[in-house]
Amino acid sequence: MLLQDRVAFVTGAGSGIGRAGALAMAAEGALVVVTDREAVRAETVAKEIVQSGGRAEARVLDVAEDAALTAEITAAAERHGRLDILHSHAGIQIPGRLDEVTPEDMDRSWQMNVRSHFVAARAAMPMMTAQGRGSIIITSSNSGVQYDREMIAYATTKHAVIAMTRQMAVDYARHNVRCNALCPGFVDTPFNDGFERQMGGRRALEAYVAQCIPMGRWGSPEEIAQGIVFLASDQSAFMTGQALVIDGAECL
Ligand SMILES: NC(=O)c1ccc[n+]([C@@H]2O[C@H](COP(=O)([O-])OP(=O)(O)OC[C@H]3O[C@@H](n4cnc5c(N)ncnc54)[C@H](O)[C@@H]3O)[C@@H](O)[C@H]2O)c1
Repeated sequence: MLLQDRVAFVTGAGSGIGRAGALAMAAEGALVVVTDREAVRAETVAKEIVQSGGRAEARVLDVAEDAALTAEITAAAERHGRLDILHSHAGIQIPGRLDEVTPEDMDRSWQMNVRSHFVAARAAMPMMTAQGRGSIIITSSNSGVQYDREMIAYATTKHAVIAMTRQMAVDYARHNVRCNALCPGFVDTPFNDGFERQMGGRRALEAYVAQCIPMGRWGSPEEIAQGIVFLASDQSAFMTGQALVIDGAECL
């Protein structure tokens, strides 16, 4: 197994891509700390892992709360004596153009899509440098490598977090702590509910996906999870500071 005896900490792991990544890492032998703002979601995913023979624990965590985020990561590392993988995943999408997005919306986007990843990585790094090994995976988006229509807060923050990830990668490469950004394209999860409304409903969204994505379809959370396992494991041992785009060629 690719992640035997590794300890992974995942935020926003109660649904969608975070959940799929947690399940896939557990299937590869990792003990997964499944965290989510919604207790029931975290507990359900942890239960799913345990029922299929894996190791997991559920924790309630809102990544907008700096102190709680730091405390949960530090405590998990202490509890298990190590921390090999941080998948900092929870994020927010506030749609709109410059004239529609308020400064408060921009601050909230920055807090969730950049600052929370900074706080999480900052908490994980001491344990990882002490171990001389670690993989930090920060969820950006293919909106971090292209520009979406009428998504100023999302595209700006998703670009910014790739820059931050690259900077961390360079600063900690000699410690063998790898930092990469995960950049999914359209994946059919509740996360796209806002974009669906912006598009004018489900039918319009389906038409957009069919027409605008060269592969003509959504990605599945499980397809993105394969990328998460790759970045978490030694399969990507010489890869750091990169943005792994999995989007059916949408960004081309
Ligand atoms: N689904 C996509 O098409 C897509 C594409 C590109 C990037 N992403 C990125 O993936 C992430 C989430 O997408 P998903 O598809 O997994 O979404 P999802 O809606 O299926 O799941 C998000 C999970 O995060 C939790 N959450 C929300 N706010 C939180 C907070 N403040 N603290 C902790 N947990 C919180 C929710 O309770 C939920 O369980 C975001 O960072 C998003 O930008 C998604």
